[in-house]
Amino acid sequence: MVKCRRKVCLSVVKIGFIFYIFVFLLQFTKNYYRPPNGGVIDDVRINDGVNVRGYHYSRLQTSGINKLKPEINSRSTISAPSDVHFKKFLAPALLIVVCSHPSHVQHRLTIRNTWGYNLSEEVGVIFVVGRDKKGAWGSVVDRENVLHQDLIQVNTVEDYRNLTRKMIAGLNVIINDFSSTQYVLKTDDDAFINVPYVLEEITNNRDFLTGSHIMGALCINATVIRDPRDVWSVPLKTFPNKTFPPYLAGGAYLFRTATLTKLLKFVDHASPYLHLEDVYITGVLAQAAGIKHISHPGFSFWNSKKASACDIVNRRRISSVNMSDKQIKILYKQIHKFYVKGC
Ligand SMILES: *[C@@H]1O[C@H](CO)[C@@H](O)[C@H](O)[C@H]1NC(C)=O
Ligand SMILES: *[C@@H]1O[C@H](CO)[C@@H](O)[C@H](O)[C@H]1NC(C)=O
Ligand SMILES: *[C@@H]1O[C@H](CO)[C@@H](O)[C@H](O)[C@H]1NC(C)=O
Ligand SMILES: *[C@@H]1O[C@H](CO)[C@@H](O)[C@H](O)[C@H]1NC(C)=O
Ligand SMILES: *[C@@H]1O[C@H](CO)[C@@H](O)[C@H](O)[C@H]1NC(C)=O
Repeated sequence: MVKCRRKVCLSVVKIGFIFYIFVFLLQFTKNYYRPPNGGVIDDVRINDGVNVRGYHYSRLQTSGINKLKPEINSRSTISAPSDVHFKKFLAPALLIVVCSHPSHVQHRLTIRNTWGYNLSEEVGVIFVVGRDKKGAWGSVVDRENVLHQDLIQVNTVEDYRNLTRKMIAGLNVIINDFSSTQYVLKTDDDAFINVPYVLEEITNNRDFLTGSHIMGALCINATVIRDPRDVWSVPLKTFPNKTFPPYLAGGAYLFRTATLTKLLKFVDHASPYLHLEDVYITGVLAQAAGIKHISHPGFSFWNSKKASACDIVNRRRISSVNMSDKQIKILYKQIHKFYVKGC
C-alpha cells in the first residue's frame, strides 16, 4: 500500500517535472520567435504603398553596424583616404542586399556558408524576397528567418515584371530601417561577392567616397530588346529610344546610402517604369537624379567569364555572376587554399 502510494507520488513529481520543462521550452521558443516590436508583425508602409514585412533582421541592426555609428560620424578625414586603414579608421558599415526568390532556399544557404560566412562586424548580408504567386506570405520564408534573421520579405508578387518594384521596396527598407548603413551593395543570389575587395574599393576610391557616384559594370548604348517573347523586352510605347541610358549591370552595383536615398526620391517622378531593375535604378533614376557612374573592371556583366579563385585572391574581380551553388562552393574552397599558399 505504502509502496504503491510512493509510486503515485513519484509519477506526479515526474509529470510535474516534464510539464515544467515543457513550459520552460515553450517560453524560450516564444521569446525567440518574437519580432522586435513585441509580437506584432512589422507592417511597414513605404512611399509607393507597398507593404513590407521586414521583421527578424534585428541581428544586423544590433550587431556591428549600429555600434560603428559614432565612429563613422566622428570621422571627418574621409577626404584623405589614401592613408586610411579600413578596419581601424573608416569602418564603413556595408550592407550587401541580395535579390532572391522565396523558393531559393538553397542559394541563400550557400551564400551564408560561403562568401557571406563569418564576415567582419562591419558587413551584413541581407536577402530581399517577394511573395510567391499564390499571394500568401511564405511560411517557409518565415521559418527560415527565425533561424537566420536575414530576410526582408516585401509585399510584391514574385514575377519578373515586378523585379524593379521588389528591389525598390527592399532598398527603401534599408534606407529607412538601417540608418547607420553607409554603403549598400546590391547583388543576386547566383553571385559570388569578393567582400574584402569591395571593402578595399570603398576605402580607396576617392570619387566614390567623396562624390555622388554609383559603382559597377557600366553598360553604355545597350540596345533595347523589342521581341515580345524575350522576358527582357520593352515595348516601343514604354520606351521609344533605341538604347538605354548608361546603367550598371544588375549582378552587383555599389552605392553610398546617401546616394541611394537621393535616387529613390525620384521613383515617383522618373519615367518610364521598367521591369529591368538595373536599367531602371542605375540608369533611368540615376539620369533623373544627375548621379554619375564609376565603371569598375572588377564588376561582372551578365555574360562575363566566371571568376577564378586567383581572380578573387589577387583582387581582379569583385563579383562573379550566373554561378551555380556548386560553383560558388568550389570557388570558396579554392580561395581558402590560395590565400594560404598564394596564386
Ligand atoms: C571568424 O573570423 C574571425 C576574425 O575575422 C576569426 O578569428 C575566426 O576564427 C573566424 N571563425 C571561423 C569559424 O572561421
Ligand atoms: C506585381 O505586384 C503587384 C503588387 O504587389 C501585384 O498586384 C501584381 O499582380 C504583380 N504583377 C505581377 C505580374 O505579378
Ligand atoms: C553611344 O552612342 C552615341 C550616339 O549614337 C555615340 O555618340 C557614342 O560614341 C556611343 N558611345 C559608345 C561608348 O559606344
Ligand atoms: C532618349 O533619347 C533622347 C535623344 O537622344 C535623349 O535626349 C533622352 O534623354 C533619351 N531618353 C531616355 C529616357 O534615355
Ligand atoms: C551561365 O552558366 C551556364 C553554366 O555554367 C553557361 O552554360 C551559360 O552560358 C552561362 N550564361 C552566360 C550568359 O554566361
